[in-house]
Amino acid sequence: MEIIRTVKEISTLTSEARKQGKSVGLVPTMGALHAGHISLVERARAENDIVVVSVFVNPTQFNNPTDLATYPRTEEADCRLLETAGVDYAFIPSVEEMYPEKDERVFDLGQVAEVMEGPMRPGHFNGVAQVVSKLFYYTHPTRAYFGEKDFQQIAVIRRMVELEGIDVEIVDCPIKRADNGLALSSRNVRLTEAQRSTAPGIYKTLKESVKLRSEKTLNEVKQYVIDSINSMPEMEVEYYEIVHPLTMQPIKEWSDIEGCSPVGCITVYCGDVRLIDNIKYND
Ligand code: PAF
Repeated sequence: MEIIRTVKEISTLTSEARKQGKSVGLVPTMGALHAGHISLVERARAENDIVVVSVFVNPTQFNNPTDLATYPRTEEADCRLLETAGVDYAFIPSVEEMYPEKDERVFDLGQVAEVMEGPMRPGHFNGVAQVVSKLFYYTHPTRAYFGEKDFQQIAVIRRMVELEGIDVEIVDCPIKRADNGLALSSRNVRLTEAQRSTAPGIYKTLKESVKLRSEKTLNEVKQYVIDSINSMPEMEVEYYEIVHPLTMQPIKEWSDIEGCSPVGCITVYCGDVRLIDNIKYND
């Protein structure tokens, strides 16, 4: 595996590969890699000739300076994992390399960005669109891989791709969970031991709520999830919305959509760690 730190170099390597008819799979990450990321890398490895993983803690998507400052940075361990997973290029640029000047672009992300994470984290999705569009321009991916834990983010990235007219296939990959059900996240390392035993309650409650779908109204199911999780120690639900899987718009009744599965999207503060998860209410 080669570690590449400049835009010029990764751009040359990947555009040459594409000219030779090779496919390029990109896995964008912010580092602090775990088994969830590695599952994306494995999928990219299976489906492409060349695999690029970017490791970049993108400042423009953090609306909270403390969150940016405390975001875990573990470059050496990340590189060992990527090497073992058979990655060709780890693209690890500096902030100055990615943003030699302030990125003033404002993306018209529309309705998918107006709900849930949108109002809760102003500017976050615009920052994601800024960095992911740059990564797409610099690494010329045939396919790019994203985890469904950040369900709304995938919709935002699809919208950005449409706006920019970028020719890339967005591949969404299932959430990876610990044995106790907690969705894997780089933020989990910040949980205390006590919080670690409570946090799996999020997924447990979501799963229970799917069973209630046939007997309860959508609002009753939502309230059940919120009340159950809020009753757990140190847990506070920020939002729970059951949404259309493509438009991200909250639905009011189960019958509001047919032919596709509503998705319940949740954000919970466990102490001061913000955890995110989601579940499909299959028909
Ligand atoms: O999901 C993430 O880790 C980040 O938002 C991404 C897509 C790598 C952009 O910085």
